[in-house]
Amino acid sequence: MNNKIKLVMSKADEEFVVKMRRDIHQHPEISGQEERTAARVIKELNSMKISDIRSGIAGHGIIAVIGKKKEGQLTVALRADMDALPIQEQTNLPFASVNEGVMHACGHDSHIAMLLGAARLLKSVEGELNGQVVLIFQPAEENAPVGGSRPMIEAGALDSPKPDAVFGLHVWPTLPVGQVGVRSGFLMGASDRFKLTIKGKGGHASMPHETVDSIIVAMQVIQALQTIVSRNVNPMDAGVITIGKLEAGTRYNVIADEAVLEGTVRLQRPEVRSLLKQRVEQVAELVAKSLGARAQLEYSEGYPVLVNSEEETEMVRLATSRWLGKDALATIEPALTAEDFAVYLQKFPGSFCWLGCGFPDESKNFPLHHPQFQVDERVLPIGAQLLAEIALTYIQEKSR
Ligand code: NI
Repeated sequence: MNNKIKLVMSKADEEFVVKMRRDIHQHPEISGQEERTAARVIKELNSMKISDIRSGIAGHGIIAVIGKKKEGQLTVALRADMDALPIQEQTNLPFASVNEGVMHACGHDSHIAMLLGAARLLKSVEGELNGQVVLIFQPAEENAPVGGSRPMIEAGALDSPKPDAVFGLHVWPTLPVGQVGVRSGFLMGASDRFKLTIKGKGGHASMPHETVDSIIVAMQVIQALQTIVSRNVNPMDAGVITIGKLEAGTRYNVIADEAVLEGTVRLQRPEVRSLLKQRVEQVAELVAKSLGARAQLEYSEGYPVLVNSEEETEMVRLATSRWLGKDALATIEPALTAEDFAVYLQKFPGSFCWLGCGFPDESKNFPLHHPQFQVDERVLPIGAQLLAEIALTYIQEKSR
């Protein structure tokens, strides 16, 4: 049996995590452009004397390894995503974004700081680790449908050392600080994206009989698309089709030649994916045809369904309850939001959890991706230690 290692977060560690989060928050970079962010992460890893670092993977991805495993010991990976969003920040924080139109509105700044904090804790007990920890600093999580996890895996980031399990977390504003949402099995949906171009025939607004009005066609296509989930999918299976963007027309008295719709498809069961894709195509094509127009579909499959493996999820539960107490475990319901962490889980066992970051003052809580989103910073040291505790619990429990 392994010695039980006790992690202690010092005042300096806590200050470090807050400082990191504020620095990254102030300098957000969108997907694929995480240059400064990655440089900052590397600088901090270097100053912790972590020597096994690979950078520039699939863009700005970084892999760092703590500990050296002996024969029969385990490798556990912890992942943080690094990218920000094209959103104009409206928080009025003293460390608000200095980059016009770019904001860490999904909390990835916190994830980076937490993983750096976990690295510090784990490095301090490196000599006693009975295994090794791989830190994944991943770019481009928001860049669906490609994302950052698949390109990193394809670039061989996790070939050697190859993790036995991968863990990650996401700050969650509807849970209060101190709560951890853990769930085995299905947690988040698969997410596809499509663009439909409706080609009609433009003309004078007063002579519709000589045209094919692409706006009228688009309206009918949108309505018909909404019958797919309600009439074609088994009501016991979750699915959503949302058209989030519609563009058509140039002038009030001109019949629009073309209309372009963009939307997303979300689902729970992988088997439903091909049905939804096929029906979007058929419905759009045939409705458009019946009105004398043509529909062209560009459809890209995005992130897969996120499914947490049972045993590894139990490790997250164990780590949380041993350290924070059983009351810290929150019951959570799955959602059709999507996460490219799902791609790791297709290849490795592992678990993704939601970490409460909500303020006690409800008026300060905004949803993820909102221009006023912010975390209660008390979550930062908690997230750092939680990641480290998960890694230790996994290594200790699984190698018994
Ligand atoms: Ni996110």
